[in-house]
Amino acid sequence: MSQNDQEGKAPVRGLQDVVAGETRVSYVDGVNGMLIYNGYDVRELAEHTTFDEVVYLSWYGQLPTRSELASFRARLVSEMRLPSQVISMIRLAPAGAHPMDVLRTAVSALSMFDPESGDMSPAANERKLVRLLAQVMTIIADMHRVRSNESVVSPDPGLDIGDNFLYMFRGRQPDEEEKKAFDQLLLLHLDHGFNASTFAARVTASTLADMHAALATAIGTLKGSLHGGANERVMEMLDEIDHVDMVDSYIQGMLDNGKRIMGFGHRVYRVEDPRARVLRHWSERLCHRAAMADLYAISHRIEQVVLAQKGIYPNVDFYSATVQHALGIPRQYFTTLFAASRTAGWLAHVMEQYADNRLIRPTSKYIGGWNRKVVPIAERG
Ligand code: ACO
Repeated sequence: MSQNDQEGKAPVRGLQDVVAGETRVSYVDGVNGMLIYNGYDVRELAEHTTFDEVVYLSWYGQLPTRSELASFRARLVSEMRLPSQVISMIRLAPAGAHPMDVLRTAVSALSMFDPESGDMSPAANERKLVRLLAQVMTIIADMHRVRSNESVVSPDPGLDIGDNFLYMFRGRQPDEEEKKAFDQLLLLHLDHGFNASTFAARVTASTLADMHAALATAIGTLKGSLHGGANERVMEMLDEIDHVDMVDSYIQGMLDNGKRIMGFGHRVYRVEDPRARVLRHWSERLCHRAAMADLYAISHRIEQVVLAQKGIYPNVDFYSATVQHALGIPRQYFTTLFAASRTAGWLAHVMEQYADNRLIRPTSKYIGGWNRKVVPIAERG
């Protein structure tokens, strides 16, 4: 391309509104505040189905029958074991290492112990879908147990994958309400169009790198505070507000200083994020149950103030923070749980990319100089 051609092309900052590919996995309707998974409204799915049913939908294009779900659940739970070397690597991580870094490293390590990691046949990739989702759940649960000096807990074949996660993470069986809340939390995080981490996973897959590589890319991308890392920052903000009466001045101070309120705003939604609506309900319910009603009251007031001051709504990360907190999940694990659920979505996208691949390779507007003459090092002083 010539100098003049380069000058004529304006880049789209942040690729906003750029249609970068096709997908059946999900659609974000930012105007009407809807999220569609494979044709179904996510709110309806949350009401009538479970996380593992929706994982099945994302990977195979339809909701499972009862017998399909039973064998799918059994397969997932049977794949939850980790190679002992990967558990050793988790133990070796410094105590201060962020769980997202440990998760990314452990997923990367899994590729070296998975005999099928380099096998790109559809059958091997299908087996890796199941295995990777199951193993990601176990990495997070085992990491927490190891770092808390507690023994790791084996999965219970009688529980589905989400219930097993809570059981293995906390070491006790969840009750019915906890199961429902946690399952919906996972279901609502499963996919979200061409968000940054999904797009990153697809870019990696488009080079025909393997699924482990695409998953490690996605986990690294999710970590940032403008993406999945926001839920942990929400909890930090809530820590700084002792009482609901402090909310107005706290938020005003943040906005006056040009700071962003974590868990608010979205690139696509112009109205309320449908996931936040469901999670608000669970936040209220679980905070009351856990004698943390003040925390919910503060959160709710933040929502009202930010909407009044900036006209922006909470995103999925805002109420997910208090839901997870009330479930007894330490904040440094919040983003790993987002990653656990989104692993199902990322892998669905990776399979889509493999099925109809063309290398993703955009171009850039060159803003460096032209016609500079090289001065040899000896003459540069
Ligand atoms: N707090 C305060 N102001 C905000 C916020 C916020 N959380 N979000 C957007 N704005 C303001 C910006 O300051 C800007 O205002 P201006 O036009 O007066 O300068 C305007 O809204 C547009 O902001 P952009 O940064 O251009 O919006 P963008 O689409 O690039 O960003 C993002 C979206 C990154 C999510 C942003 O809203 C944000 O930083 N939110 C806080 C972090 C967060 O919650 N991330 C999780 C997102 S959901 C997810 O990834 C799972």
